[in-house]
Amino acid sequence: MRLDKYLADMGAGSRSQVKQLIKKGLVSVNGIKASDPGMAVGGADTVECNGALISHRDHFYYMLNKPAGVITATEDDRQKTVLDLFPENMRKRLFPVGRLDKDTVGLLIITDDGQLDHELMAPSHHVDKCYLLKTDKPMDAEDRAVFKEGIELKDGTRFKEALLEIDPEDPCSARITISEGKYHQIKRMLLARGKEVIYLKRLSIGELQLDESLEEGAFRELTEEELNILHKKKSKAL
Ligand code: URA
Repeated sequence: MRLDKYLADMGAGSRSQVKQLIKKGLVSVNGIKASDPGMAVGGADTVECNGALISHRDHFYYMLNKPAGVITATEDDRQKTVLDLFPENMRKRLFPVGRLDKDTVGLLIITDDGQLDHELMAPSHHVDKCYLLKTDKPMDAEDRAVFKEGIELKDGTRFKEALLEIDPEDPCSARITISEGKYHQIKRMLLARGKEVIYLKRLSIGELQLDESLEEGAFRELTEEELNILHKKKSKAL
């Protein structure tokens, strides 16, 4: 593969940006300064840019702490999307795994790996997702019991069992764990119980926890350990 394509594919910059880096003498291949953007490199070569090793990867995996006010989409003419939070040269082929509403905050995985998307989001895979929620009215033991059995809405939509853990200090606050990801699921479940969700934050997907040190709008790469956790995708709570 051409050196400039390799660097751009690995997220070092756009094709023209990496050409500039090469021109400035900031790229080396196997310890030797590279001057030709078209030189051939492969998996066995050691490529460094600005002193950092650019290792070849098949896929990219990021954890984003989604802020409110951005939509979970790859592009939109009018509204800001979660991908707009990434530098332009990193966006290529990336997409969000699953969907959070515009006003929902918290854990969202951004990747270019369609297989992971399938593993985590296919309804048949039952991966637990845990959320913190706040409601306009107090939740109670009856809500908990109803959700435990699964709930059917008036329009016939059925939501599977969910675990509602109400904060003993504040009954308007709870954690909820669901294993599906239907449209506005948590808001519709609570609405069926006469309560409006006024705050919703995703805390975990399977065993992967939101890194609370990430500010809203910030992202970081998943660690090796976190990726292993995701591929195991244990469903424990329900
Ligand atoms: N349930 C909702 O209602 N909204 C979300 O964003 C996620 C789950």
